[in-house]
Amino acid sequence: MQITFTKPAAPKSGVAVAFAFAGRKLAGLAATLDEATGGSITRAMEASRFEGKAGKSLTLITPAGLPIDRLVLVGLGEPGKLDELGAQKAGGIAWAQVAGVNAKSALIIADVTPESEFSAGDFAANVAYGSALRSYRFDKYRTKEKAEDKPQITKLSIATDAASAAKKAYATLEAVVEGVFFTRDLVSEPPNVLYPESYAKLLQGLKDDGLEVEVLGEKQMEKLGMGALLGVGQGSVRESKLVIMKWNGGGKKDKPLAFVGKGVCFDTGGISIKPAAGMEDMKWDMGGSAVVSGLMKALAKRKAKVNAVGVVGLVENMPDGNAQRPGDVVNTMSGQTVEIINTDAEGRLVLCDALWYTNDRFKPQFMVDLATLTGAIIISLGHEHAGLFSNDDDLSEKLTAAGKSVHERLWRLPMGDDYDRQLKSDIADMKHTGTRAGGSITAAQFLQRFVKDTPWAHLDIAGVTWSKSDEPTVPKGGTAFGVRLLDRFVADNYEK
Ligand code: BES
Ligand code: MN
Ligand code: ZN
Repeated sequence: MQITFTKPAAPKSGVAVAFAFAGRKLAGLAATLDEATGGSITRAMEASRFEGKAGKSLTLITPAGLPIDRLVLVGLGEPGKLDELGAQKAGGIAWAQVAGVNAKSALIIADVTPESEFSAGDFAANVAYGSALRSYRFDKYRTKEKAEDKPQITKLSIATDAASAAKKAYATLEAVVEGVFFTRDLVSEPPNVLYPESYAKLLQGLKDDGLEVEVLGEKQMEKLGMGALLGVGQGSVRESKLVIMKWNGGGKKDKPLAFVGKGVCFDTGGISIKPAAGMEDMKWDMGGSAVVSGLMKALAKRKAKVNAVGVVGLVENMPDGNAQRPGDVVNTMSGQTVEIINTDAEGRLVLCDALWYTNDRFKPQFMVDLATLTGAIIISLGHEHAGLFSNDDDLSEKLTAAGKSVHERLWRLPMGDDYDRQLKSDIADMKHTGTRAGGSITAAQFLQRFVKDTPWAHLDIAGVTWSKSDEPTVPKGGTAFGVRLLDRFVADNYEK
């Protein structure tokens, strides 16, 4: 979709969106249009339940006295409370209301001056951002969908008095949209299309955005001693891969920020096979790696002034004559041995070697890993927060704050020796699962054994990677939860 910023002018045809604050207070040009029609917009608002509350909308078809076909009113709530998130939400709702109309373009009248610290240009840019985020659609495999059933709108003009400021602010946000869409595409692809080799090839394409990309195959990982990661993939006919993406936007001597992702392209559970119902969801068990990839793309697109590395472990967890067994003992790159208990706890085995490798090779300032790691985190936090586990309070606070400001919320859970004890093995240095009690925490304890003293945070995103319902800026499906959060986390803390 093409987004442009224009000067406010009365619309002459087609579809327009305007905003109203609480109390049915029309903003900017919309108020002028209302006066010019003798108050027909106000009459329509009064005849309905639309009061201008945030999240609400009202559509007027062929509004009296105006030459346009349709006017969509979107509520902004209290003027003093309007912030970035409110503007994004309004933009997303605006998109949802115009996506189905029979028109090629739409105008959003966004000449709103919020009564908060938020500027008019930032308001318009964030409206555009919200609309763009909501417009995502993964429809490449729907060959029978008629063209007229798809959204027709390809051009969105955003009218604002601060067009040049808005355009500038949006250029940065658009980079994040590209990262988010890349992540959503990756998690939406079916597992017969996206498997370690094809995924690695796709990531090679990020070179076009200015990233350095390296791919390690099984031979190289064997040499490095990554027995845990390789054990997970050994029942698959697809070769496991480790992909390293580098963005060098900082000073030559700046230690990199490191992001590590679980990329299980399909998780059957292996020999400890999962039940059939819902197993198709396990195509998005590579969600952590997709967020890392989308983040790297966003950082490159907006030329972030940092050095960052993204490392993703790509495997397929299959049952097979050659698959890993419960009871096996594997050697990790760290030298520590692990007794395999349940082959469905595969994500931590991929991550432990990827984390060790990242720390060992890059000596990063910190490591943040993302993984759809445990069903238990969904029991704990539902779909509203991702789990945060960390050995560092400062890192945790920064991540939590970034999450709040983009509405990708984190909740920190405890860690400690009394949980770690569950991982004692009779035959090896450790086993990789504990009991059902505190299942997400013991998974984090396992990971912590592979990060030494490096500040580290683990985000368990199993509950937030896929959404079953449309949200204002996130259509149902892959959410890309984590891209916006980490982009903000980087911008706010490491680019000053
Ligand atoms: N990929 C799953 C976790 C998961 C579950 C992600 C539901 C998204 C939705 C992970 O590999 C897994 O199977 N974890 C097991 C661990 C257990 C065997 C210790 C789980 O959560 O049941
Ligand atoms: Mn599993
Ligand atoms: Zn898994």
